[in-house]
Amino acid sequence: MNVVLLSAQAHRLEVNTSKRGAAIPSTMYGIFFEDINFAADGGLYAELVKNRSFEFPDHLMGWKPFGSYELRDDGPFSNNPHYLRLLFSGRNDKYTGVENEGFFGMGYQKGGEYKFSVWARNPNDDGEVSLIVQLCNPATMGERQQIAEANIIISDKEWRKYEVELLSPATVAKGSLRIVLAPDSKAIDIEHVSLFPKEVYRNDENGLRKDLAEALEQLRPGIFRFPGGCVVEGNTLETRYQWKNSVGPVENRPLNENRWNYTFDHRMFPDYFQSYGLGFFEYFRLAEQIGAEPLPIISVGLSCEFANGAQRCDKHVEVEHLQPYIDDVLDLIEFANGDPSTNRWAKIRAEMGHPAPFNLKYIGIGNEQWGDIYPENLKPFVEQVRKRYPSIRLVGSSGPYPDGKDFDHLWPSMRKIGVDLVDEHFYRNEDWFLKSGNRYDNYSRKGTKVFAGEYACHGTGKKWNHFNAALMEAAFMTGLERNSDVVLMSTYAPLFAHVEGWQWRPDAIWFDNLTSFKTCSYYVQQLYSLNKGSYQLPLTMEGKPVAGNVGQDGLFASAVFDKESNSVIIKVVNTGKEAQRLMLNLKGMKGTHSAELITFHADAPDGENTIEQPLKYAPKSEKMEVSAPEQECIIPANTFQIYKIRE
Ligand code: AHR
Repeated sequence: MNVVLLSAQAHRLEVNTSKRGAAIPSTMYGIFFEDINFAADGGLYAELVKNRSFEFPDHLMGWKPFGSYELRDDGPFSNNPHYLRLLFSGRNDKYTGVENEGFFGMGYQKGGEYKFSVWARNPNDDGEVSLIVQLCNPATMGERQQIAEANIIISDKEWRKYEVELLSPATVAKGSLRIVLAPDSKAIDIEHVSLFPKEVYRNDENGLRKDLAEALEQLRPGIFRFPGGCVVEGNTLETRYQWKNSVGPVENRPLNENRWNYTFDHRMFPDYFQSYGLGFFEYFRLAEQIGAEPLPIISVGLSCEFANGAQRCDKHVEVEHLQPYIDDVLDLIEFANGDPSTNRWAKIRAEMGHPAPFNLKYIGIGNEQWGDIYPENLKPFVEQVRKRYPSIRLVGSSGPYPDGKDFDHLWPSMRKIGVDLVDEHFYRNEDWFLKSGNRYDNYSRKGTKVFAGEYACHGTGKKWNHFNAALMEAAFMTGLERNSDVVLMSTYAPLFAHVEGWQWRPDAIWFDNLTSFKTCSYYVQQLYSLNKGSYQLPLTMEGKPVAGNVGQDGLFASAVFDKESNSVIIKVVNTGKEAQRLMLNLKGMKGTHSAELITFHADAPDGENTIEQPLKYAPKSEKMEVSAPEQECIIPANTFQIYKIRE
């Protein structure tokens, strides 16, 4: 028998449906993207070849060459000069070639088509030579490792791009790509070897993995922050994210080390680099496609302060030498919004296929920065942007933690410098989330606003994506909604993780080479975003906000009105271990109303979705009728519910 613990007394939630509160900004719920956990190369960026330009410091990392070959460095792309010369091995019974392992293997789908391309040339004067391209299943017990094969004739002495499509007859989770010099050929040079699934998000050139990009689109984010996170800063100034290197032809975008390659001694990935294949053009394009405002974050001339300290030293740029960094911001505004006929960066955007502006409105300067060095460096950025582009809204940082000395020091500095929003980060445990329902209730309503730019509940001793962590986030988010006049943007973080390649968890979406799944936290974000509403409605219990306070039995709640669906939307989270009786009091409404009740619940709060069971936990929707002004309801323990009541 199922015993349901139910509180005896009903909690009266009073919603004043005729009192219009603050607007809910379109940017309220968004996404934070960083190339961590193989989120870009090996993840969202659909390229299957690792180290495609032979530019990793170990030039053959990811490649298994065989036979006779030479690594050379006078290739056609100035930023990526290395390439491979495949040479006849000297014997007909010995092949020459090279095999790429992909990112934890390459995922091939049965019936999937794959676009192979390579820059190649015949270095000799002996006419046509050829390459054999194979999709392989190296671990098969079958007769042949190759599951698909094509020939490419190389006829030119000059470098040219060659392309061929291959059809996979089987699903392979850990495939590889093999390129073999045809036995009758003497030599071929190969460079920028690429393999993309033909089916990518919106069929874009240099496109994105469809399931992952669609998962982002389904979140209907209002703001899209990129490219990080710590990768913005880099471990060193040299390895900071440099957006100018990430635009233009992909073949010539230089490699950058990924800050997450061997940062943690318990999760090391020495083969983790940024190809910049997913670069700023692709980020802006994606923002436009998913309907989110782009929010690029740019280096403030300070390398990671965790790694290099918060004092002036040669790891950070002195104020008087900041101009190239400031120019990066000014030029980015031109890249995104400028006129291609007058600006060189805008021209690059147009040449890349987007003559129309991207309509950039927000820029963040600096990621997790702190100490005096941050405001000192930030000031000239703000002054110059304000002077030339007064309508751009600027985001500053409050450091890595949601409170404490640095946080308290930075907020007044940010106000003084006059940024529009301050980015707050909180990776905190259940207790913090339960106690922070009122966090923004008393923030000043004047001036600088909040961007809750990175947050997630990191359960005590449970750093994974279990249901309870998502429930804590749902509870906390009622406080964001109730304070949408102060918190204008929020982004859960991080977004993606490869099941074999992660450095940091929890994360919103997990994937392997073939499939992906949405975590409970993803669903919470989606529930908020899809039920964002247009403006707040006051919701109280005994005259107070419902934020898990004393006497509120672990309940959190907020309400909005949605003009589009003409509905009152009430979000209630029961973080307690008992079901609660609720009396919804809808002041200003009468009669019976059709409603939708969305319930997100887990009997086992430690449970999570997995690759094997991707839909174990997902919100469920049912129709109901609500009588106004009062309706009694029961919210089970460990539950997030949304009542969508048609007016
Ligand atoms: O989201 C992961 C990391 O957390 C980000 O890179 C950084 O900004 C924060 O410390």
